Amino acid sequence: MFSAVSLASLLAVTAVEATFPSPWNLPTTYPNLTACTSLPVQYSCENTTVLTNSCCNVVKGGLVLQTQFWDTYTGLEDEGQLLPKGSWGIHGLWPDNCDGSYDQYCDLSRQYDRDPPSPIPPYTGPSVRTFIEAFERWDLLEYMDTFWINQGAPNADFWGHEFSKHATCTSTFDVACYEPGYKEHQDVVNFYETVTKVFQMYPTYNMLAAAGILPSNTTTYTLAQITNALYSQTGAVPYLGCSGNGTVLDEVWYFHHVLGTEQYGHFKTLNSTTASSCSATGVWYYERTPTSERVVTY
Ligand SMILES: *[C@@H]1O[C@H](CO)[C@@H](O)[C@H](O)[C@H]1NC(C)=O
Ligand SMILES: *[C@@H]1O[C@H](CO)[C@@H](O)[C@H](O)[C@H]1NC(C)=O
Ligand SMILES: *[C@@H]1O[C@H](CO)[C@@H](O)[C@H](O)[C@H]1NC(C)=O
Ligand SMILES: *[C@@H]1O[C@H](CO)[C@@H](O)[C@H](O)[C@H]1NC(C)=O
Ligand SMILES: *[C@@H]1O[C@H](CO)[C@@H](O)[C@H](O)[C@H]1NC(C)=O
Repeated sequence: MFSAVSLASLLAVTAVEATFPSPWNLPTTYPNLTACTSLPVQYSCENTTVLTNSCCNVVKGGLVLQTQFWDTYTGLEDEGQLLPKGSWGIHGLWPDNCDGSYDQYCDLSRQYDRDPPSPIPPYTGPSVRTFIEAFERWDLLEYMDTFWINQGAPNADFWGHEFSKHATCTSTFDVACYEPGYKEHQDVVNFYETVTKVFQMYPTYNMLAAAGILPSNTTTYTLAQITNALYSQTGAVPYLGCSGNGTVLDEVWYFHHVLGTEQYGHFKTLNSTTASSCSATGVWYYERTPTSERVVTY
């Protein structure tokens, strides 16, 4: 029979062990939000008073877009860069301003884009992959290499671009939000965790498939069929993007206002503020090249 004393000593040993470095005691990636606990909570772009702490609320870029794309190939199949079967790919998490305009590359001290628009200097340092490795976030890296797939260049180039172009314009990922004790690239890893979390709210492939809309190289769909399928599951109309003069579906953007931080706050889905670029009828949702896909578990 266990006595209260032996249970207490067991707990004491556990507490002591937890202070030693171990695979279960990795550096944390979360911001310091202690100052937020005394503030009122309001949705971004809907606040009736000034949001005073930009680490506690999405003050810059409060119209938040979770963006995904549908590619049929990667161009780097030979190197094993394959698309996830039965899933759209992650594009990013974009901070639009409340009026639908947007800023980009807001902090050039965190410029990790190897191919930015002029006059921004290209990044030439180590891959952002090494930033995630430094935090030993193998789980996150594996997820990103499964669902966040680039076309024509390595995945990590895409990840670096998304962080520097977009996340630097979202106030809750500012370096100041991780002080004191900021660990280099903590904000980058925390952003990637956030992107993968919000992406999982929108299994676009499954939502469409559940309404009978599957990739096909023989049948086209109407824009209304696709829109209704997603509206009936999310309660809002996302933006649908088409290439080929409106005939080839390849993008979806889900719009939100966020309560609290982008990292942990509540995402309220909203109708798109941008008209679809797809034609009303004759929209192709192409099957992928079979050798460009791999089976994934999720
Ligand atoms: C978080 O920041 C506050 C100041 O806002 C500071 O007092 C506190 O010690 C910090 N917490 C940690 C864990 O660093
Ligand atoms: C909402 O918060 C933003 C950021 O602090 C501020 O610029 C804006 O004036 C606020 N809106 C209202 C109605 O107070
Ligand atoms: C694109 O589509 C529009 C409207 O359907 C049509 O008027 C136009 O000719 C098309 N342009 C091309 C280059 O196919
Ligand atoms: C969103 O769009 C749908 C479909 O067009 C419409 O019925 C609904 O009223 C819109 N919701 C809001 C809040 O505007
Ligand atoms: C379907 O068509 C797309 C676009 O032409 C092509 O890339 C893809 O390989 C095709 N898939 C199959 C299974 O035929």
